Amino acid sequence: MKNIFFVASECMPFVKTGGLADVVGSLPKHLDKRYFDCRVILPLFSFMNQRFKDMLRYKTHFYMDYNWNNYYVGVQEMEYDGIHYYFIDNQDFFGCDKPYAGMPYDIYRYGFFCKAALSAMPNLDFRPDVIHCHDWQTALIPVYLNDSFQANPYYHNIKTVMTIHNLKFQAIWDVKTVKSIVGLPDYYFTPDKLEYKKDANLLKGGIVYSDAITTVSRTYAEEIKMPYYGEGLDGLMRARAHDLRGIVNGIDYNEWNPATDNIIYHNYDPFNFRNEKWKNKTALQWDLGLNVDSNCMLIGIVSRLTDQKGLDLIAYVMDELCQDAVQFVVLGTGEERYENMFRHYAWKYGGKVTAQIYYNEALAHKIYAGCDAFLMPSQFEPCGLSQLISLRFGTLPIVRETGGLKDTVEPFNEYANSGTGFSFSNYNAHEMMATVRYAERIYYDRREQWNQIIERAMARDFSWWSSALQYQELYDWLISQM
Ligand code: ADP
Ligand code: GLC
Repeated sequence: MKNIFFVASECMPFVKTGGLADVVGSLPKHLDKRYFDCRVILPLFSFMNQRFKDMLRYKTHFYMDYNWNNYYVGVQEMEYDGIHYYFIDNQDFFGCDKPYAGMPYDIYRYGFFCKAALSAMPNLDFRPDVIHCHDWQTALIPVYLNDSFQANPYYHNIKTVMTIHNLKFQAIWDVKTVKSIVGLPDYYFTPDKLEYKKDANLLKGGIVYSDAITTVSRTYAEEIKMPYYGEGLDGLMRARAHDLRGIVNGIDYNEWNPATDNIIYHNYDPFNFRNEKWKNKTALQWDLGLNVDSNCMLIGIVSRLTDQKGLDLIAYVMDELCQDAVQFVVLGTGEERYENMFRHYAWKYGGKVTAQIYYNEALAHKIYAGCDAFLMPSQFEPCGLSQLISLRFGTLPIVRETGGLKDTVEPFNEYANSGTGFSFSNYNAHEMMATVRYAERIYYDRREQWNQIIERAMARDFSWWSSALQYQELYDWLISQM
């Protein structure tokens, strides 16, 4: 049996702000249980749902030096849906109402999490062959592992994988503060290690010290070697190109299944969507105060409202698009200016635009099921799960050709009658608008072709199975290097 430890800040169903949680929550379930025992370590956030807190069992506790203090580290555990979870408990660090609060406080919290997770391992009756780290919050693990932990033979030969879900977030702060908080010696704060433009950069440390690096699509793995997408680390990505690979995310096909989903208004499948899917649209229109019209094209957006998602393109042409025979439903939270922008359009175009500015899983399901198209014009997109969910629900994605969007949405070709969605290449509002309008024409004027695109979209397989195999190969290869 090969032992894998996932360490992450988010995981469905316990804590989620974005796709990271979906991936950490679903990938372990899809590894072959005959060969891999994959367990997950998370922070024990006080805001976690009481239902899950009631399922926790005390495992152990100890005291650990960190940031010039000696701190309590509790470990609680739980079996859930076939996976063994461990939760690192210290309410000074994780007693809060959201997982991220800003720098440098988050460096302090997640530095503690990394050190505590590593320190806890020998007390868990489970020695990992591979520690799989996700994003900057866990990037100190490969660094710590290389440092003082080597004094204990338990840690010898444990391999590390660093998965980059989003290169934009690196955790950068001044060297003096970071060094003092995380307690690493001067040795690590040079430009070939954690130093970055005179500051300290945690993600950089994780990338330098991990044995393998992955990101969540092939195109993004290529893009981040270039300055436009490299977020200042493109040189490092090129230097480690040999150890970097792109493995596209899957989605949980049980959770996202229009045929069995008990949250959506009406179930449908690839055979009966022509007669059944529209019922989800009219029910959604009714619920959200849109004009109820089964024929009107409804475009959905479910997203964190940040620059990454290309919302400035939408802002630029929204007035023009609202002259067309389309409706928009937006579900998201994030930057205030985008929240207000969508509120504004909902006010201006009542009956045509609705802005639901909050986080809600159930409404997300209803939107994926009820819309005709899903708009995702991202500036960059490491993978993107929303377009995969949309494909599964026969809601045609309209995307910009970047990262995972490029790898997973095949643009409609009217001559070959092929493709699963619509796409444009330049980060340009009018290019986006032209693509939306092209989709409108197909929807209104060539409905049978539109329906054939839906058939192809729903037939695509973005479940985890093939990607999980690629992770297994990576683990096997790393373990064989011992
Ligand atoms: P990212 O991780 O960059 O936010 P992804 O497309 O990978 O983007 O994943 C986003 C996930 O979060 C999807 O499962 C999407 O449905 C969900 N999501 C985003 N915003 C909301 C919201 N306001 N309410 C419910 N689900 C949301
Ligand atoms: C990040 C990326 C998104 C990706 C998700 C899961 O949040 O922004 O593109 O799908 O991580 O890997």
